[in-house]
Amino acid sequence: TAQELALPVGVTLDRFIMHSQSAFPYATGELSQLLRDIALAGKIINREINRAGLVDVAGGNGTENVQGENQQKLDIVANIRFIRALKNGGEVCAILSEEDEDIIHTGNNHGKYVVAMDPLDGSSNIDVNVSIGTIFSIYRRVTPINGPASIEDFLQGGSKQIAAGYILYGSSTMLVYSTGDGVNGFTYDHSLGEFILSHKNIRSPKHGSIYSVNEGHYNTYPAFVQNYINHCKTKNYSGRYIGSLVGDFHRNLLKGGIYLYPSTKKDPKGKLRLLYECYPLAFIAEKSGGKATDGFGRILDIIPTSFHQRSPIYIGSSAMVDDVVKS
Ligand code: AHG
Ligand code: MN
Ligand code: MN
Ligand code: MN
Repeated sequence: TAQELALPVGVTLDRFIMHSQSAFPYATGELSQLLRDIALAGKIINREINRAGLVDVAGGNGTENVQGENQQKLDIVANIRFIRALKNGGEVCAILSEEDEDIIHTGNNHGKYVVAMDPLDGSSNIDVNVSIGTIFSIYRRVTPINGPASIEDFLQGGSKQIAAGYILYGSSTMLVYSTGDGVNGFTYDHSLGEFILSHKNIRSPKHGSIYSVNEGHYNTYPAFVQNYINHCKTKNYSGRYIGSLVGDFHRNLLKGGIYLYPSTKKDPKGKLRLLYECYPLAFIAEKSGGKATDGFGRILDIIPTSFHQRSPIYIGSSAMVDDVVKS
């Protein structure tokens, strides 16, 4: 909104949220509170991650999640911290997490919102001190207030998200989110304990020269993806792949680029999860002028059928996403 744009870089997240809320006279402030709760969860997870090498939270947990992945200790810690922050905040009636098979009822049945989340993204990078992230997706519930949330609150489809974003624990910690108009980025100032507006109204470059894909699986990718990867090479694009979706997406958002996670022989439906990885980042991509597709249509148009379903994804600069589909 015009009011948001009027705020200068350097204001705190709290001030930004308050200001955005005053632009919508009918807004009740509950979404604002929820965004603050997410920011608080981000600060807490940031603290845990920063001392991971010192306290005994690195390494595997010896458990598997519902998708058969080995859970890392920090996956569990981040999950617990996030759930606790949203429970205490009071605005969310239920949570869907990568790390739990079923939805988690917070006990706040008066809460108007549900949140789907990837509490810690980039598990394989935890123990080696490489950037990781948190992804979140927010819906207004469709079930009656004061009753329990249910599956249909979470299976509304990506275009029904009212807000989404991510926290990147990188060389700096950043919160990037959108409530529908514009994408803004906030950098965490440790000395103040505050997120500060640093990246105002982020716009995805229409074209870029970075492609991010796990090329080790090249031989099992569909032909159009192989063609596109070859096209990137003839163009001398830079290959950049961290293996943390949030980090790879964020770099491409700022610099211009495309991230690809196609179907493979091992994962015929791709690896990334629709509800808490693909939808929220597709929301951010589109709100910043970029695109996200599964190769057939918009990610946000995919009709969801289950909590942990997967989807191939091609996401980033609009012209590059168009190119991959045509390849
Ligand atoms: P998570 O750590 O939340 O399970 O997600 C892992 C994802 C994503 O972060 C990353 O882009 C992708 O897995 C990497 O997969 P590959 O190792 O197969 O390339
Ligand atoms: Mn995982
Ligand atoms: Mn993830
Ligand atoms: Mn995860």
